[in-house]
Amino acid sequence: MRFDDHYVQQVRSATDIVHLVSGYVNLKKQGANHSGLCPFHNEKTPSFKVNQSLQIFKCFGCGEGGDVFRFIQLMEGLNFPEAIRQLAERQGIPLPASDPGQERRAEEREKLQELMRTAAEFFQQSLERPEGKKARAYLSERQIQESTARAFGLGFAPPGSRLLEELRRRGLEVQDALTCGLLKKNDRGELYDKFRARVMFPIRNLSGQVIAFGGRALAETGPKYLNSPETPLYHKSDHLYGLDLARDEIRRRNFAILVEGYFDCIVPHQAGFPNVVASLGTSLTENQVKILSRYSQKVVLNFDPDSAGVAAAVRSIDLFARAAVQVNVMELPAGADPDSYIREEGAERYAERLKHSLPYMDYLLERFLEQERDPFSPRGKQQVVSQIIPYLAGIPNRIERAEYVSRTATRLRLDERLVLEELRRAGRPTQASETLAPQPQPPLATATPAEVCLLRAVLDPGWSQRVLEQLEPDLLEGLVTEPIFQKLEEIRELHGENRILFLRDQLGDRHLVHLVEGAALEAVEHGLSEQTIQESLRALRRKQLESSSLRLQRAIAQAEKRGDTAELELLLERKASLRRRIELDLN
Ligand code: UTP
Ligand code: MN
Repeated sequence: MRFDDHYVQQVRSATDIVHLVSGYVNLKKQGANHSGLCPFHNEKTPSFKVNQSLQIFKCFGCGEGGDVFRFIQLMEGLNFPEAIRQLAERQGIPLPASDPGQERRAEEREKLQELMRTAAEFFQQSLERPEGKKARAYLSERQIQESTARAFGLGFAPPGSRLLEELRRRGLEVQDALTCGLLKKNDRGELYDKFRARVMFPIRNLSGQVIAFGGRALAETGPKYLNSPETPLYHKSDHLYGLDLARDEIRRRNFAILVEGYFDCIVPHQAGFPNVVASLGTSLTENQVKILSRYSQKVVLNFDPDSAGVAAAVRSIDLFARAAVQVNVMELPAGADPDSYIREEGAERYAERLKHSLPYMDYLLERFLEQERDPFSPRGKQQVVSQIIPYLAGIPNRIERAEYVSRTATRLRLDERLVLEELRRAGRPTQASETLAPQPQPPLATATPAEVCLLRAVLDPGWSQRVLEQLEPDLLEGLVTEPIFQKLEEIRELHGENRILFLRDQLGDRHLVHLVEGAALEAVEHGLSEQTIQESLRALRRKQLESSSLRLQRAIAQAEKRGDTAELELLLERKASLRRRIELDLN
């Protein structure tokens, strides 16, 4: 459902952020803010702040911040509409009247969800009953404890069409079960159970609702796993198996382990690695990467060491690197997978391997070397270099890029300059500034201290008006914070909380929003003074003068080269006048 702005505002203003956060975090009043330990990353000293009058929160450790909706989204793993619905419910605000089409679709979903819940319960009960004996023996042979089976909701689909019978007995619509992929139709048009004589793995969304199933054959015949098809509830490319159970631990440990299979997820989870999720043997999608990166910017890939697993790892590295997620790869001996490795070698050795996981560049280099028949022949080296170049070019950080150029050269016994030359030819200007590749920045790192100070001032009701008047447009030109000041200029008449909310909605860029939130919360903590504000204004002015001077210098050089004396004279004059202004400004 889409909510209109008015309704969103109504829910937002009915919810108090301090009250909301207090349900999750132990907050202490500290000056104008409340502070506590950040629930979104692991920390020992509180850097998480909540401001009641601005109705925002901000962590100065991990950079997370926002309003009540953002908080509940992160905390409960909800999307925006779900967050609105949940807060509205808490405040007793009725949902807005919606159009009949939407209502019908919502009802339809609810019916399907009800059906999936019934099926999941049926499978779970079948596992407990005498007929589930073989399945229980199978799970215990694979060392799955009962509590683990319960946590993951494992079940058993009996042979025959027992689910169909059960649904009919309960008077549920079998058509819905067909839509959900629980039943199938044979040539004669008769319905039968899709999952028969299989151990069942429910696939759940972040709210813990069952939306699909995977079923593993107990016998050696037939496909090893059967999975639910795409349904109105289940879009395979939007889900990661186990994320409902893993997300809090992914956040707390600040990394996720990504594996391929059902057991590869469950067994490590049981062995003390609860931050593991599975892609279920299909190739990872951009959306799955996006979902995972909400909980952490780091992931360790732990795919099977066979060739399919290596290919999957290489593909996934691409996706993660593009999303600026830091990727390591953890390797297991040939023939092992996470499940079998832990069962045979134990959790400690698994932890050891995890600790020695390789940064993805090192992993790729080794894989590319391995794939060459004669990697140290001139041809082999050329092959490896050309394979690794796109990845080198993709590293946004210059220092890191230089480090991997050097490692590649050393490993291949090549002159570093050769690798650099190849990189340059591939189109990555090796001397270029960082701005080429967008990269997540810590919140306040991108703005200069002068900008941050002025931002604080314009967000502070006591200073705002006066400072805005002194901020002439050319003073702001080209600054990271320029769009923020411009927006603030548009809303001079708005005050307090509303300004921040307006900026959040208008800026669109997350880094800018972070900057605003950080500055706003600091504004109430640090006293601002006329002196610091004037100093900051002067710093900005100087910065602008200096860049003008630089531009002039370049123009002068060009005019000299062309031998354009008239132009040169003009430029030199302007330069002299600029120098006088800079000197004046310095004194
Ligand atoms: P694997 O073939 O590596 O199986 O498939 P596995 O997970 O090790 O299975 P076990 O340990 O023998 O039980 C990895 C994943 O690919 C999907 C499943 O999600 C599986 O966990 N898969 C595999 C299927 O969907 N269908 C199949 O027939 C095989
Ligand atoms: Mn396996």
